[in-house]
Amino acid sequence: MSEVASVLFGREDVRRRVQELGRTIAGDYVGRNPVLITVLKGAAVFLADLMRQIDLPLEPHFMAVSRYGDAEESMGRVQILLDVDVDLVGRDVILVEDIVDTGLTLRYLLATLRARNPASLEVCTLLDKSVRRIVPAELRYVGFDCPDRFVVGYGLDFRERYRNLPDILQVDDLPELAEDPDALTPLLTAGASA
Ligand code: IMP
Ligand code: MG
Repeated sequence: MSEVASVLFGREDVRRRVQELGRTIAGDYVGRNPVLITVLKGAAVFLADLMRQIDLPLEPHFMAVSRYGDAEESMGRVQILLDVDVDLVGRDVILVEDIVDTGLTLRYLLATLRARNPASLEVCTLLDKSVRRIVPAELRYVGFDCPDRFVVGYGLDFRERYRNLPDILQVDDLPELAEDPDALTPLLTAGASA
């Protein structure tokens, strides 16, 4: 396959892990009706698979945020572009994330949601890039620990590309991809792994 990127977590590993997470969450929230809040767009793919593995009544809701530059530049200040249209008072809220990197975005989102007085507030992230953390984050559910590499696929993008790759790839040559952002396009049709 390409020298620019390689498979980090293949689609079958992802499917199995998401199933495990769903079962764990279902066990933890028996008798409750959690609100799953997902931040567009990266986590939408994960949410779609995860919520179908949770055999409980639940409500998916969506937020969209924009950052001022990257997380470090903005120090986590984000602007809410789309907010949830549900009253969170007394609800059990699970924030569904694609990846927690510095933790700055997450800190802002958790503070925003906590101020709305939910009964509980937990985080479920597919990937935890823990080595990059700037502010501590309490992550109740983690799919995979992620190495300090840029990753794409399964919802994660590079300049809005590759969200529809079924596998999670690590970018081994980021300067090359920056030069040719379409370098991984052949993988969309080739099927990066079985
Ligand atoms: P944080 O505030 O640094 O934790 O930023 C997390 C956000 O940055 C994620 O929701 C992603 O949108 C983006 N991000 C961080 N690392 C990656 C990566 O390796 N690939 C794609 N997006 C990433
Ligand atoms: Mg992104």
